[in-house]
Amino acid sequence: MIPAAVELIRTRTSAAPKVAIVLGSGLGAFADTLAERVEIPYGDIPGWPHSTAVGHAGKLVTGKAGGTEIAVMSGRAHFYEGYAPAQVVFGVRVLAGLGVRTIVFTNAAGGINLGYSQGGLVLISDHINLQGFNPLIGPNDDSLGPRFPDMSDAYSAELRAVARATASELGVALNEGVYAAMSGPSYETPAEIRFLRAIGADLVGMSTVPEVIAANHMGVRCLAISCVTNMAAGVLPQKINHEEVLETGRQVRDAFIRLLTALVPRL
Ligand code: HPA
Repeated sequence: MIPAAVELIRTRTSAAPKVAIVLGSGLGAFADTLAERVEIPYGDIPGWPHSTAVGHAGKLVTGKAGGTEIAVMSGRAHFYEGYAPAQVVFGVRVLAGLGVRTIVFTNAAGGINLGYSQGGLVLISDHINLQGFNPLIGPNDDSLGPRFPDMSDAYSAELRAVARATASELGVALNEGVYAAMSGPSYETPAEIRFLRAIGADLVGMSTVPEVIAANHMGVRCLAISCVTNMAAGVLPQKINHEEVLETGRQVRDAFIRLLTALVPRL
């Protein structure tokens, strides 16, 4: 299925990007800023799962950001939508098949660290996988990567240094922290958030981790940036709703786009 998807994409675009960006909830606007844009709806690509989440567009876009050729996944498949683990990481596998060597993941996340605030951007330094599965379970395809891949630099320290330097030059505040991945789709309970804080998580979300595992498996370098769309359950005396998550994503859109555009040519 992966070679067929790669082949279809090659019939639509002559782009040969080495860098890709995966856009999270409410962050899809970045794809529209690319120069020399070619859009391929996921539905046109054999085997590509269509995202059903509100706020996720569902297209692969190639083009240039800051003069550098990139591929952008606007919309991703989540485990909570009912997709099998292999489907959740299908896009990342196809990107690697296209020749992508570096992927920047973005997502919406709840802030657990009390030093964060709504609308802040956080560089993910590491993760805790609590989704209940690993996308590498099953027979290993040795042509893609090793059976037991190392995860000690899953979020490349080198790329994080570049991201920090870029953000500081732009005057964009960028915290750094550990992302805990839950399956969702219900948000966490306040007790779960206290548990996550106790085990060392700064952020909580429902995506990114399976994709980062699959990318590391293939030797693809990863960088990930969360937008704190809301403080996590129980931190503030208010409920969490998806509309607020999307709205905060829209509010930080400009800072996010500036950061990504400046970052891409340096990766
Ligand atoms: N929890 C889990 N996922 C999320 C949250 C949250 O609070 N906000 C955005 N994605």
